[in-house]
Amino acid sequence: MPTTPARAFPEDFLWGTATAAYQVEGAAAEDGRGPSIWDTFSHTPGRVDHGDTGDVACDHYHRLEEDLGILARLGVGAYRFSISWPRVLPGGGDRLNRRGLDFYSRLVDGLLERGVAPVATLYHWDLPQELEDAGGWPHRDTALRFAEYAHRMGEALGDRVHTWITLNEPWCSAYLGYASGVHAPGRTDPAGALAAVHHLNLGHGLAVQALRATAAPPARVAVTLNLHHVRGVSERDAEAVRRVDALANRAFLGPMLDGAYPRDLIEATASVTDWAFVHDSDEATACQALDLLGVNYYSPVLVRARDGETADGPASPWIACGDVEFVRQPGPYTEMGWSIDETGLTELLLRLHGDRPSLPLMITENGAAFADVLDGDGRVRDERRVDYLRRHLTAVADAIDAGADVRGYFVWSLMDNFEWAHGYAKRFGIVYVDRETLDRTWKDSAHWYRDVVATGTVPD
Ligand code: NOJ
Repeated sequence: MPTTPARAFPEDFLWGTATAAYQVEGAAAEDGRGPSIWDTFSHTPGRVDHGDTGDVACDHYHRLEEDLGILARLGVGAYRFSISWPRVLPGGGDRLNRRGLDFYSRLVDGLLERGVAPVATLYHWDLPQELEDAGGWPHRDTALRFAEYAHRMGEALGDRVHTWITLNEPWCSAYLGYASGVHAPGRTDPAGALAAVHHLNLGHGLAVQALRATAAPPARVAVTLNLHHVRGVSERDAEAVRRVDALANRAFLGPMLDGAYPRDLIEATASVTDWAFVHDSDEATACQALDLLGVNYYSPVLVRARDGETADGPASPWIACGDVEFVRQPGPYTEMGWSIDETGLTELLLRLHGDRPSLPLMITENGAAFADVLDGDGRVRDERRVDYLRRHLTAVADAIDAGADVRGYFVWSLMDNFEWAHGYAKRFGIVYVDRETLDRTWKDSAHWYRDVVATGTVPD
């Protein structure tokens, strides 16, 4: 099936895998961890497929040594994980839960002992429930609490963690959490979602400041965005592309990298909010120098102008995009129904590099869910995932050859885990997790990726 020649990556390219706390840890009520919005949401009937919850997840909390062993055998240079805010600061306040922190301390030490660089994400969607009860991300105080949390983590782990990511995919936190409601906390309030956008941006900037003040230099600080690579069906759809790009991408890139919200976003959403929650110096605060921009890429987006405007659906993440139609892409598709199109990744990386040539890029997530089966001989023959990874890594190599400064690549995910509203039905791992025994089995893609990492080359 290979269609491309072997591609060698730069010597110092960082190879890794990624997970997130609520998706893998389990131990939801152990050692003083407090509840997060995802505990509440997943325990609410009808919110998550099959009623799945992260109570046990992959039991990573108790299987830390085994999972560290897998990372060591994969030979990756880095592991991207997230810290569960309610595990270290139950309630989101200032009482540090030593036992929770100890888990991350052991994780970090275990990685370093094995020569794997820890890459810590502060917020991968598990807001302490108490902070949601007090208003959540639409509420300004949440950004200030996030900064305090960042400060505490910088103090506690900043001597050993040298790469930090403030937020993971704030697009999802704001629009899926507060507009469409398909993610926790499950609210459907477009104005609240735009306020959440802002307080995530503000929280990011404050967290960068906190990390700079606490983590030992040379700490690298980044944010991870799921930038949408938006294409129009025809040239007549340029306005639809611009609208979606403003809401999905520039709503974050603008304040974080340029210190200002795009004017077209403010105008397009004027009937939803007056943006009065943006205080005078907020945009400057959100705009802190970053060492890397983390990019999560799965699939591009195709849009066209709708004939005749329709009102926003009651629960659409696409606020004020009533005149935009989202068009189903041509296949093939992954198990998520997402089209497989690696050319979008090359184009996205080149656009980002073209816009900001001095900002290094890192692919902090890329991967695919397929209906994997553990065969009788103990193998998982996931050749479609191997093909997906090969295509996307080749796309990264194309971008590097064309001048993009891409420093690393993290497969999503190290292991099958809790795929949010889809529960455990969607398997993204390169390591298979048996839902009964929680035993780990390397899929063919894990063996393939180990060889890629070892040689720094994507084979033909
Ligand atoms: C992005 C998210 O960061 C991650 O948590 C999720 O599992 C993957 N996308 C796949 O949907």
